[in-house]
Amino acid sequence: MLYNRRMETQIIKINKENLDSIEMDEAGKLIAAGELVAFPTETVYGLGGDALDPEAAHKIYAAKGRPSDNPLIVHIAEYEDMYRVGRNIPPQAKLLADAFWPGPLTMIVEKSDNVPYATTGGMDTVAVRMPNHPVALALIRKSGCLIAAPSANTSGRPSPSKASHVAEDLSGKIAMIIDGGEVSIGIESTIIDLTEKTPMVLRPGYITPKMLSDVLGEEVIIDPGIIAADDTKKPKAPGMKYTHYAPKGKLTIVEGSREDVAAKIRSLVAEKKAEGYKTAVLCDTDNVKLYDDGVCENVFDAGTKRNEITVSAGLYSLLRTCDDIGAQYMYSESFEEGDMGYAIMNRLIKAAGHRIIKV
Ligand code: TXA
Ligand code: MG
Repeated sequence: MLYNRRMETQIIKINKENLDSIEMDEAGKLIAAGELVAFPTETVYGLGGDALDPEAAHKIYAAKGRPSDNPLIVHIAEYEDMYRVGRNIPPQAKLLADAFWPGPLTMIVEKSDNVPYATTGGMDTVAVRMPNHPVALALIRKSGCLIAAPSANTSGRPSPSKASHVAEDLSGKIAMIIDGGEVSIGIESTIIDLTEKTPMVLRPGYITPKMLSDVLGEEVIIDPGIIAADDTKKPKAPGMKYTHYAPKGKLTIVEGSREDVAAKIRSLVAEKKAEGYKTAVLCDTDNVKLYDDGVCENVFDAGTKRNEITVSAGLYSLLRTCDDIGAQYMYSESFEEGDMGYAIMNRLIKAAGHRIIKV
């Protein structure tokens, strides 16, 4: 079957005020008819299709150019639907749902027979999340479906934090994009695997291991496969093994004290500029002036560690901007600090292909 036929992608603008509109009804109907609709969540935009329809899953993989062994997250709007898609649901699920749903947490449980293997990439487990966004919840309810949705980017590109990013990647390949404005968190949900003896974080995000273990009253471990700096250990979430979030240019992270890092980045930029390359710098709001040396170009304020959500919210957008301006060498400060620092650095280090200089 040919899935990559070109089609007209309709873009509609929806906010809290027009959730009950003809356009939203149509979006729901498209999902129910097996078509794909991209929609905003609080983390990143998702590319939605009927989670119980294997054909919809195939369309999602084709539109993203994503390997079909990489399972999709099923988005639900009512907790009871956890029992439609999962089985042997452990008691931790309810505790976590009460504390964090709707919200940026995905739970892995055993899958029920209702969920096709096309959706779970052949796995016997399923990833489930209740997103905290009025448009996402309204879309699920209006469609009458549960919605399988990976991030709405072309595989290998940064996840989309606004509708224009989705349009860049998927225009002509999906039926509709719902533009609900910019997302608030900007990096994908935390994934916790509840099928392990000890709950295991497979992907770090806004909800930290400490927040999870505080609610569960038990230890939560981090998948050793995402900590490893090389390929010696395989991450348990298939998606974490792909070189995600890779910008076209070479990104290097420089770590150390504020002044030393700035000095190193200034000299690296000077070197590359002298060789004729286009460069860019990603730095903390508080440090922008350190790069005002008349040599550094494309100095981007990447938000501030004092308020980490300002960093996560704009991170992927900045990486896309670096591509757009044709930056060949990018240098970033480290944002390893505070609660979400670990999740932010997980994405940034991947984007940098593990190139880190310590000064
Ligand atoms: O914030 C998010 O989670 C966004 C929004 C749209 O909800 N979605 C998202 O989906 O990031 P995606 O497909 O880009 O990432 C899903 C990740 C992949 O790394 C995948 O391998 C993993 O979840 N995953 C899904 N089901 C799994 C399962 N049964 N076992 C292990 N990992 C699973
Ligand atoms: Mg993704």
